[in-house]
Amino acid sequence: MAAVQELAERAKMDTLYIDTDSGADDESATGAESKPYKSLAHAYIQHGGSEGKQYRSRASKTGPVSADGDPAERLVWKEPAKSAVKKAQGALDAYKKKVLKQQQQAAQEEEKEKSRLKTLEDAKKIVITEDPSLPKAAKITIGDKNVELGEGDAKGTRVKVSGRIHRLREQKQATFLTLIDGYGHLQCVLAGDLTKTYDALTFAQGTSLSVYGEMRKVLAGQQAPDNRELHVDYYKVLGRSPSDAEAITNRVSKEQDQWESSMLDNRHLVLRGDTASSVMKVRSAVEWAFAKAYREMKFTKISPPAFVQTQVEGGSTLFELDYYGEKTYLTQSSQLYLETGLPSLGNVYCIEKSFRAEKSLTRRHLSEYTHVEAELDFIDFEDLLDHLEEVISKVCTTILADPEIAGYIKELNPEFKAPSRPFKRMRYSDAIDWLNAQDPPILNEEGNPHVFGDDIAEAAERRMTDIINLPILLTHFPVEIKAFYMKKEDTDRRVTESVDVLMPGVGEIVGGSMRMDDYEELMEAYKREGISPKEYYWYTEQRKYGTSPHGGYGLGLERFIAWICKQHSVRTCCLYPRFMGRCKP
Ligand code: 4AD
Repeated sequence: MAAVQELAERAKMDTLYIDTDSGADDESATGAESKPYKSLAHAYIQHGGSEGKQYRSRASKTGPVSADGDPAERLVWKEPAKSAVKKAQGALDAYKKKVLKQQQQAAQEEEKEKSRLKTLEDAKKIVITEDPSLPKAAKITIGDKNVELGEGDAKGTRVKVSGRIHRLREQKQATFLTLIDGYGHLQCVLAGDLTKTYDALTFAQGTSLSVYGEMRKVLAGQQAPDNRELHVDYYKVLGRSPSDAEAITNRVSKEQDQWESSMLDNRHLVLRGDTASSVMKVRSAVEWAFAKAYREMKFTKISPPAFVQTQVEGGSTLFELDYYGEKTYLTQSSQLYLETGLPSLGNVYCIEKSFRAEKSLTRRHLSEYTHVEAELDFIDFEDLLDHLEEVISKVCTTILADPEIAGYIKELNPEFKAPSRPFKRMRYSDAIDWLNAQDPPILNEEGNPHVFGDDIAEAAERRMTDIINLPILLTHFPVEIKAFYMKKEDTDRRVTESVDVLMPGVGEIVGGSMRMDDYEELMEAYKREGISPKEYYWYTEQRKYGTSPHGGYGLGLERFIAWICKQHSVRTCCLYPRFMGRCKP
């Protein structure tokens, strides 16, 4: 009410006051003598210019003083200067123009919206039906390539394909849809009434539908996935997808990096994109390739538990939980359980989740990751290194032999090649020398040259791997920086028979070693690490009931995928990444 009154008052006012020093151009001013404006232009805009109005102006602090130096002169209201009037009139004219344009635009928008709604309303009257005289459509997926393609006068197979709109291009004569169904991309062409229905006018990325029509070869010079397109004669929309502000294209963007927080919040939508889905396809193929390689090498797959009461890789990264009142952890590694499979099953492997309460946010650490682990019996360290090369090479060969998977890899990482054997082998002590020999030397985390015993930090390790640019089997780490169960080298008891596999772009993807096979030595190791041997009786007893020289390793599947698919972070190499601060969606 007060505001309405004020406006009415304002309209009645015929003399408006401007104080360029103490006035205000916001709601605190009304133009009254007691509440002057700051600028004449503002006053003109508020009161519609000079018609029927008088304006009085002053600069109460900086205005000219009288000839005899009296500052009271500044408080006298005077006619505004001509130049100020001209400027104010200019501002008013521009303002009126702007308002007019806005009104015209709003009217146009309103018209457009009305016409859009009418078109949509009219479109509801257009009903399409399947022509019963056409051949019965064969139900296929986009992956089915054994379909007759029409060309010239020759007819192609009439098919039914169900999928979702991935891309949409509306042209005057036809609407082009790229459909996805998880098995490929299919270009569909719609014309005539098919483009005019309510459904067609509300097509959006994500809309699910079944399309029916003849499969034809694309015309020479045109491009489409698999060189074919579906000439649609009928379709049924199964589920609409929003085309407004809620549209998928407004929720996620190709330009944003997938490991960024808002993209991870929308991971369910990001997964519909070509990059994310290609990485997931490669991942699936890699898991299968590991299973195939192990089967060829006669390993038995076992499935150790996730709830455990022993640690493997140090207490600091254990997720602890209450298990019916008992202190329990989520497993860090299935290694100890794998070792118990050796006596009766022979070499064993598993592909299971491992959990690490990593308190740092790096691009290669997750809290939950997929761990490919294997354990080999009656081997020596050389056998373990050879086996690692073999399994990695076999997996690469398998995935590259699959044209679909090789195609995804080519898109994601055009330079990717299976590594050639033998891999470069390097002892830890030589790596220390190598780091120090660089110009300038690659320093440790404290900013000093590396010394024997330093844990080679992630950054230094990655720089080394990137410079050498080859897979490296880095071996013989010092006892102090490795896990309690690792066997010491016979000839240098300061180091373990341990190996990390390092890959360019990622760094460590595998950690492995020969295991201590002597009972007493293992008991000593528990003591050294402050581990209570009681909970480990089942592990220790492997050394009591017929011990053997054995070893194994764990490979981080997400890191392996990051290497193959050239992903910046392991976060985009799993379906829904878990890391410090993120346990959703
Ligand atoms: O080197 P790690 O800690 O070794 C072990 O757990 C052994 N017990 C495995 C074994 O011998 N069976 O981990 C092995 C691999 C690492 O090289 C890395 O690829 C991956 O597991 N890894 C992680 N990946 C993602 N996020 C993490 N937080 C990871 N921690 C380890």
